[in-house]
Amino acid sequence: MADKKFDGLSVLITGAAGGFGRSMAKKFVDQGANLVLSDHAEEGLEALATELREIGGDVVTMVQDVTVEETSKQLVDLAIDTFGRLDVAINNAGIGHRQVKTADVDSAEALATVQVDLMGVFYGMKYQIKVMEKAFAEHGRTSSIVNTSSLAGIVGAPRGSMYSAAKHGVVGLTKTAALEYARSGIRINAICPAFARTPMVEDDLLGGNADAKAEDFLVRGIPMRRMATADEVTQAMLWLCDPDNSFTTGQALAIDGGTSAM
Ligand SMILES: NC(=O)c1ccc[n+]([C@@H]2O[C@H](COP(=O)([O-])OP(=O)(O)OC[C@H]3O[C@@H](n4cnc5c(N)ncnc54)[C@H](O)[C@@H]3O)[C@@H](O)[C@H]2O)c1
Repeated sequence: MADKKFDGLSVLITGAAGGFGRSMAKKFVDQGANLVLSDHAEEGLEALATELREIGGDVVTMVQDVTVEETSKQLVDLAIDTFGRLDVAINNAGIGHRQVKTADVDSAEALATVQVDLMGVFYGMKYQIKVMEKAFAEHGRTSSIVNTSSLAGIVGAPRGSMYSAAKHGVVGLTKTAALEYARSGIRINAICPAFARTPMVEDDLLGGNADAKAEDFLVRGIPMRRMATADEVTQAMLWLCDPDNSFTTGQALAIDGGTSAM
């Protein structure tokens, strides 16, 4: 039987109840990880934890609002108290705002987007990095952080300006921290997906509209002319934090059906 890549490692995921979060959590359990999952959607989070336990996952959960800084510390403490270590952190919770041009973006919505999509990642990293640095200094243990940015974090996103601004911020934060901690055993990367079939896209962008035309419109700029599946994105997220992938840091990896190659 092939070795499990994350056997005995402790993996923290925010936004775990969403499309990417659920897909990742299942993959990590398959690969032997112990999971610390958070989301502010309590019902979805607990349903996921039950499913994962049924397939043998060792899982703890915390209802969290990533915009509240102390909850990021509490989540890291939960990982250490439960599993004694934190090897991988995926800062994945995110929201979009209403699809309107920049001058029409509601300022309260803009601020909320920055607070979740950028400040939430920053708060997470602050506390994750501290314990990861300590693990490296004391035990020579290496760790990895993956931040969920977006294709909108490397190119402009008409009608998504403040989402794009926050996601560009995530890329800047990722690259800078990767440089700062490159000799502290912590690899830090960002993933930049184009549209993927998750509740965020199906509910917010397609508005629950199953009409093929609505989807065709959304994917018209993607060379493959289709959305990604959640699994196509999350397999790349697992690759980024795979301990064997030990020389990859500071990258903003586009998973976008070729869009950013144009
Ligand atoms: N789906 C896509 O096409 C796509 C593309 C690029 C980037 N992304 C990014 O991927 C990440 C995951 O999105 P998804 O597509 O799985 O969407 P999703 O809506 O299914 O999942 C997002 C999760 O984040 C949680 N969340 C939102 N605000 C939170 C808060 N304040 N505190 C804690 N949890 C909170 C939600 O409850 C939800 O479970 C997001 O950062 C999103 O911006 C998604």
